[in-house]
Amino acid sequence: MIKQNRRSFFKLTGSMAILPATLSEPSMAMASAPAKSKKSSGRMAVGDKSLSGAFAALPFDSTADDISLAKGFEWYAVAKMGDVINKEGQKFGDCCDFTSVWEGQSSDQMFIWVNHEYIVHNVLYGKLLAPTDKTKEQIDHERSLVGGSYLELKKNSKTKKWELVGDSEKAFRLDGTTKIPLVGPAGGREVTGTMGNCGGGSTPWGTVLSGEENVSTYYHEPDGYGWGNFYPSSKLDYGWVVEVDLQNKSARKLTAMGRFAHEGATVVAKKGKKVVVYLGDDARGECFYKFVSKELFSGDPKKDRDLLVEGDLYVADLAKGVWVHLNPSNPLLANDKEGRFKTLADICNQTRDAAKVVGGTPLNRPEDVKIDPSNGDVYFTLTNNSKAGDFHGQVVLLTEKDADHTSLSFEYKTYLTGGLGSGVSCPDNIVFGPGGHLWVCTDISGETMGKGVHTRFPRNSVFRMEDAANGTALARHFLQAPHGAEITGPSFTKDGKTFFMSIQHPGEDSFENGNTNYTSHWPEGGNASPKSTLIAVREKGSSFK
Ligand code: FEO
Ligand code: CA
Ligand code: CA
Ligand code: CA
Repeated sequence: MIKQNRRSFFKLTGSMAILPATLSEPSMAMASAPAKSKKSSGRMAVGDKSLSGAFAALPFDSTADDISLAKGFEWYAVAKMGDVINKEGQKFGDCCDFTSVWEGQSSDQMFIWVNHEYIVHNVLYGKLLAPTDKTKEQIDHERSLVGGSYLELKKNSKTKKWELVGDSEKAFRLDGTTKIPLVGPAGGREVTGTMGNCGGGSTPWGTVLSGEENVSTYYHEPDGYGWGNFYPSSKLDYGWVVEVDLQNKSARKLTAMGRFAHEGATVVAKKGKKVVVYLGDDARGECFYKFVSKELFSGDPKKDRDLLVEGDLYVADLAKGVWVHLNPSNPLLANDKEGRFKTLADICNQTRDAAKVVGGTPLNRPEDVKIDPSNGDVYFTLTNNSKAGDFHGQVVLLTEKDADHTSLSFEYKTYLTGGLGSGVSCPDNIVFGPGGHLWVCTDISGETMGKGVHTRFPRNSVFRMEDAANGTALARHFLQAPHGAEITGPSFTKDGKTFFMSIQHPGEDSFENGNTNYTSHWPEGGNASPKSTLIAVREKGSSFK
């Protein structure tokens, strides 16, 4: 469990910067932690002695084009880009990301939602292709590779591995062509497609939330994907949280949660209370938000299904430790000189601008958010901001006043400082696992991985966080990704026995930066093109706990 001596720590670190213009100081915690130095890498790894019974930390030195895993675990592929997922012959898309696991009718059946964030077109085409040189057929194919997949899995009775059911009747896709209505304050119309689906969340009423993150590159940037050359669209169609109804195979965009680069949407639902959803805007100098539903959560899926359509949106002011209401009644918005925020719809359409007007704190790319199930503490990652001199990011711990997620004030501290000290660089997706540990996946960009300030980080990694006796955070190295890949979408099954994660964009620098071939052939090997792949990890002698 993650336990904190909150009062004393906030005194020490209340002013510790997570502001964009500063490089965070290495935490005292790391310097005094019982970690041992790895001479080969110059990075610290949690030693075998810090937690009795824990798995041995994986060395940092693998540069293999493969998954490296701590001893006592094994991994296997579940679904890779291009795999057929249902009777209709629809296929698993590119760049798998957020995952959400759902139990089936029996112990050998399971369902999993998987986001598809974007397309690595140099890998797709085996060369660089200018957007203006693409045919309509190529763009139609690209539009089929984004969005998300709902998969049916079956446990193999012999191997006990989860396998994709390729002729499922339940599985379906959302992609760049799906007709999706907008609901809430800026709703009342239908748009075409969803893309940039990065992180997400799950609701207790059987839906999944999927964050539309980097959306402008598809239709609206001259050097982007070039979809706008064949299909007109409005910028206001994208940048929303999409709610996917898994049983009805339908979706809608929730405009009440604002329009920005939505990393994900982390839901807190307690009976008799309003539902709270935490939201990161993953861009340099952008903010951290939360949505609070208008109505109360009942626990009855039929009654609760529209809870996220209407509510209040707040942005975090970290200097004051308060959540600021984004509403036309806020005088700062009502008195805007340009008159940009007259209605709630205006604010939902132009959320970033409104957030800046009311004093939302610009941050170093807010990414994933998870809630500690033991005490309700809120953890979120700031992945990095090289332009502000923050190359390694951090994990922030936010505690709502009175441990009430609807509260309008909070305290925060830096929980984990990225860099050589912790061994963690560019934290992105996080998840709480069995045993109460926070697991951290990293996303060092392909352009800098293994170079310059990231020379000692040749691969992205997964870590298990552990608290030392003095209450500080230590990162136990668990997994390294293949060449060029990041690890996204971590989630555990309810029994804690299977750890799903997405291995996203292996070989993303293929045919770029002077490379004349694929820079990865994972997972198929040989001369195959690299393929983003959903994998499962299971225990084989060691324990996730
Ligand atoms: Fe798509 Fe913020 O990572
Ligand atoms: Ca992400
Ligand atoms: Ca990424
Ligand atoms: Ca990222």
